[in-house]
Amino acid sequence: MAEQIQPLAGEVEAAVRAAMAEVLPPELATQDPLVRRSDRADYQANAALSLAKRLGRNPRELAGELRDRVSGAAALASVEVSGPGFLNITLSDAALLGRLAARAADPRLGVPAGQAGETAVIDYSAPNVAKEMHVGHLRSTLIGDALARVLGFLGAKVVRQNHVGDWGTQFGMLIQYLFEHPEAAWRGKEVGQGETAGAVSALDALYRTARQEFDADPEFKQRAQRRVVALQAGDEETVAAWREIVGESETAFQQIYERLGVLLTLDDVLGESFYNPWLQEVVDELREKGILRDSEGAKAVFFDDQPVPLLVQKTDGGFGYAATDLATIRYSIRELKGTRLVYVVDARQSQHFQMIFETARRAGWLTEGVRAVHAANGTINGPDGRPFKTRSGGTVRLADLLDNALRRAREVVAEKDPGLGAEELDAIAHVASIGAVKYAELSTSRTKDYSFDVDRMVSFNGQTGVYLQYTHTRIASIIRKAGEQGAETARFDTGLALEPAEHALALELDEFGAALDAVAETLEPHQLATYLYALAKAFTTFYESCPVLKEGVPTGVRANRLALCGLTRETLAQGLALLGIEAPDRM
Ligand code: ARG
Repeated sequence: MAEQIQPLAGEVEAAVRAAMAEVLPPELATQDPLVRRSDRADYQANAALSLAKRLGRNPRELAGELRDRVSGAAALASVEVSGPGFLNITLSDAALLGRLAARAADPRLGVPAGQAGETAVIDYSAPNVAKEMHVGHLRSTLIGDALARVLGFLGAKVVRQNHVGDWGTQFGMLIQYLFEHPEAAWRGKEVGQGETAGAVSALDALYRTARQEFDADPEFKQRAQRRVVALQAGDEETVAAWREIVGESETAFQQIYERLGVLLTLDDVLGESFYNPWLQEVVDELREKGILRDSEGAKAVFFDDQPVPLLVQKTDGGFGYAATDLATIRYSIRELKGTRLVYVVDARQSQHFQMIFETARRAGWLTEGVRAVHAANGTINGPDGRPFKTRSGGTVRLADLLDNALRRAREVVAEKDPGLGAEELDAIAHVASIGAVKYAELSTSRTKDYSFDVDRMVSFNGQTGVYLQYTHTRIASIIRKAGEQGAETARFDTGLALEPAEHALALELDEFGAALDAVAETLEPHQLATYLYALAKAFTTFYESCPVLKEGVPTGVRANRLALCGLTRETLAQGLALLGIEAPDRM
């Protein structure tokens, strides 16, 4: 059984709470003690300020009373009142080192399985068949992947759901066009130069041509609509064409997933077509429950707080995106037994999901024990901060974008280490470029828009994936050298007095689990990405001021420093892995 180690921050908070219970009237004693990291000490507890105001007391005086009671707590070295009434709290070196020793001994680094018992159904990536995957799908793919990894690490059962857009009237149009233009060869066709250019690029182009014909020629439009009916009725020839198109697209998506190194496989695809057999049943259930209303011949759900209804069934009896998502949420709850449904989808679909969730509540599917969240993501802009377009105004293909990042990473890595052989350079450039793209994505709050700026992403300096990977390689090299020199074995020594930089690094190391909990709570991978950057910076400062292998370092101090190196390396590697980023030993 892995050890479960709470970060010392938890003990600090408990100590302040206990003090509050002693000095405050009961109705205020359970307020948030507001324990935060601080520049002046390890932690700061800010509660006294507002509490004193409510009691009409002097805040410094109240803080003083709290201090007298907090001071006794075992893990603390000092507690001081500062400023208008903050408590500055510093942990003892012995307490920190004790925690780190326990973390180092545990393969999970002491992180508790805080999500055990949850079943998280994560809906992410969801590109559309016969269309090129574009930067819009990159965000959902990377955020969803990181959430799947973190929630899984924290003990949740994770069900990955790739809600691929593989159904709908547009397929009637595309198939009809292909039948009428057998000369428009698309299978395995080479278009563009990206790795995955081929059938899907060709289909994407044909799709546009078909759309033009559809809009311009009413007779083609009619034939296309008949083709939709044939597809829905299961006409053999039509279904075969549809299957082929879906298959080609899914292969292309899978190539991108493999290149990105995300967890999605073909087994995770539960596309829109999967839900097709249940749409009528779902609509019937909603009608029986009195949730549907007629709206100009269509069936819809109305809401007091939404300006538009949710259109569930069209006038002609057809179903669309909304009906499919209703069947999906019902399936995720009833069949997959999800307790937390996470939809990592573009923020522009937020109204859609609000209406889906509310309808599911009315239908009695979404009950108290289940949380449904639209983990909305913003947009990726071009380096100029404007919507990302190619020079000719088209959407930017994901594959081209990754090619570009790879080229730039190759240049940057070659410049840093001119001695690398071509093969090694390629391997490192791949790892660095994917890490760079992922870290740039995951270090931004998912709801914010950001600019895709490859030059900034692949820099060895600043808050980048490359900097974190490079820090990891530096530590790996220190540990390697220690082995070569026959240095003493890494070992935490709770009797040592730490240098300030060691203490600061130890404090960061103790917070890993808290960063993961923050991701689970907010569904924001940037909580982890930002933590890892702080950890890497703390390591860099430590390494600049505290020699490890240099001659003259006392044996016990060196062993302790090597242990700090070792745990930093493991924490960085584990943290990066949870973001889906590789941590190489050399680069
Ligand atoms: N295929 C959709 C798109 O590209 C995203 C689907 C998201 N998931 C869902 N359950 N609606 O916009």
